[in-house]
Amino acid sequence: MPRTVKIFDTTLRDGEQSPGCSMNTGEKLEIARALERLRVDVIEAGFAASSPGDKEAIGEIAKIIKDCSVASLCRCREGDIDAARDALANAAQPCIHVFLATSDLHMEKKLRMTREQVIENTGSAVRYAKKFCSDVQFSAEDASRSDPDFLCRVFEAAIRAGAATINIPDTVGYALPEETAALVRYVLEHCEGARGVAIAVHPHNDLGMATANVLAGIAAGASQAEVTLCGIGERAGNAALEEVVMGLSTRRNLLDIDCRVETKQIYRSARLLLSTIGASASPNKPVIGQNAFAHEAGIHQHGVMADRATYEIMSPESIGIPQKEMVLGKHSGRHAFDETVQSLGFSLSEEELKAAFKAFKALADKKKNVTNNDIEALIKDGGRETEGYYRLESFVINSGNTIDGTAILKLTVGDGQKQTVAFGDGPVDASFKAINMLAGDFALTSYSLNAITDGGDALGEALVRIENEKGQYTGRGLSTDIIEASIKAYLNAVNKSL
Ligand code: KIV
Ligand code: ZN
Repeated sequence: MPRTVKIFDTTLRDGEQSPGCSMNTGEKLEIARALERLRVDVIEAGFAASSPGDKEAIGEIAKIIKDCSVASLCRCREGDIDAARDALANAAQPCIHVFLATSDLHMEKKLRMTREQVIENTGSAVRYAKKFCSDVQFSAEDASRSDPDFLCRVFEAAIRAGAATINIPDTVGYALPEETAALVRYVLEHCEGARGVAIAVHPHNDLGMATANVLAGIAAGASQAEVTLCGIGERAGNAALEEVVMGLSTRRNLLDIDCRVETKQIYRSARLLLSTIGASASPNKPVIGQNAFAHEAGIHQHGVMADRATYEIMSPESIGIPQKEMVLGKHSGRHAFDETVQSLGFSLSEEELKAAFKAFKALADKKKNVTNNDIEALIKDGGRETEGYYRLESFVINSGNTIDGTAILKLTVGDGQKQTVAFGDGPVDASFKAINMLAGDFALTSYSLNAITDGGDALGEALVRIENEKGQYTGRGLSTDIIEASIKAYLNAVNKSL
């Protein structure tokens, strides 16, 4: 009988706090729903004391999520814990997560606290959190660079105060898998009470070893893996949920460890996250990258045709990549459309289905064959164009190799309409400058265009990242016209900044 470990997902906290990954409350709710369908055990929904927006989003998520715990991060401060308690008031299974650094470097330089003060602060914060919530987790920030013996004393203070979980983060992505395993074993052996609580591991990916560290920690006795979808997170990110879960499932023969995640929801959830934050996975990204199941070399193709197992250690079906491609066109009706939507794993309300069908019909007028990828993109894009303070009404472009690009844009701005004209180095640059003339001074820091499908009439997806003095914002736009997709992506990012 395999041992079952918990999957603690921090996409909406550790992931969201990294540059370019910020989401508004509506987007966070959509991701939280996807995480619930994925059946993670804990959704860390944010850091309530960090901003009113974060607190509001945690509150909204706590209201709708029934099948997972919902956690809020807190420093070891009463004010932070009060904010978490309030945000989690409606949660079916609330979890207060407090953290404090335990490495000498962090204690001396950042916290300016002695070891005794850290032990005392840990105990008092966990005790305070326990007044409001039975499920309290304590994390020792920079645990992997802490004195293991001192780490155990801090964990003992947390356990005595009532912590249900103690977490061993590799905050700076420094540990090697053997070290993570050794530290988990050390805590289990030298920390009084450790065997009576859950032990979590939370590696970062600075040396590309986050997944290996999670698996090593779990094999050594940890019972909770802390991960994010697509590995988003501070710097090089966190351990990727899809890698950890598929690692457990593919190597069950060796590890004999299970988790409750519904692997068939992985692909869809990862795609939803990427389109929400306006990012794309590198083609060779494990599990979810475009090439993860592609076989280019003749020898490989031959092998796979004889038996997929020759070059595939897991199947695309196991992570929910739709296998049956139904190509729709402008004569396809609502029944075929609804069936395709369902086969892609979406469960839309009648109203959402109607809106998606309308968008499909508009696309089918421009594009002969509408594929699964197109439909998926349209559904994820749902409402984006009709929402927001700035919306595209129409545009005219003049461009050539002997003239400056000119863009004339008509935008809906709030309740009114405005027209703007700008010159630029090509049509995209001119369009972005025209938007800046109305919406403010943003600098473009990244821009990419991808075809969702093949062919000259492919649906193009533009991803942009812009910044101003307040922060960085990402946007996504879809159209069969690449200039229109680019303008929509830029407006989407501008609207997020408001
Ligand atoms: O990486 C880290 O140390 C963290 C803690 C706050 C849990 O994210
Ligand atoms: Zn972290």
